[in-house]
Amino acid sequence: MQLYLDSANINEIKQVAELGIISGVTTNPSLLAKEDPSIDVKKRINEIYSIVGGHLSVEVNSLDTKGMLKEADEILSWFPDATIKIPMIPAGLAAVKQLFDKDIPTNVTLIFSPTQAIAAEHAGATYVSVFMGRLDDIGMDSNLVIQEVCAIWEKNLFESEIIAASIRTPIHIIQAAKAGADIATVPYKVLMQSLQHPLIDKGVEIFVNDFAKMQAEISKIAPKVQKKK
Ligand code: E4P
Repeated sequence: MQLYLDSANINEIKQVAELGIISGVTTNPSLLAKEDPSIDVKKRINEIYSIVGGHLSVEVNSLDTKGMLKEADEILSWFPDATIKIPMIPAGLAAVKQLFDKDIPTNVTLIFSPTQAIAAEHAGATYVSVFMGRLDDIGMDSNLVIQEVCAIWEKNLFESEIIAASIRTPIHIIQAAKAGADIATVPYKVLMQSLQHPLIDKGVEIFVNDFAKMQAEISKIAPKVQKKK
């Protein structure tokens, strides 16, 4: 399972890209607005791509097929490598179908059930984004949903890639990987949290102290060796 960063924040993206653990970035209108409601989207998207490369999903904002297709054309005119992110609504599926016919990659977002994922697959989605956290928020079992979607994909040999999205805890990352999702798109805070453990801090502290002890001993011996020469 690959990891993407779910963010539009340049500092976060730079920091995580340096770790070499992410293969792409997903954005959405809320993440962009959180940065700055008057953000220059074209500039920000191209900046993100220059840092990470790989997958970069850019979401349309129209709610009708014609509008979505027009936006997709616009996005591709200033960022030809975009994966067009489209909401899981009937108008969105119709847009996905037309983009599929033109070989344009799409990411169907806001998927909450296996039947919605199946519909997106048949419309020609390149990626299907199953939202885990938002399901848990309303008392549903996101682990069960991601497991069902992955099992259906395996049995039916469906070709779209499954993205586990709306990741809120490191446990979601593990559940998505165990279920067989292709990708988990993870917010910065959760990704960094998933790398931490108190035993690592403790272990590093012990190594640093023992190394310092060795250095201190070596520096006591070194002058004596010099004198002998
Ligand atoms: C996915 O592509 C979405 O941008 C994202 O995962 C939404 O997550 P949220 O439910 O935390 O807003």
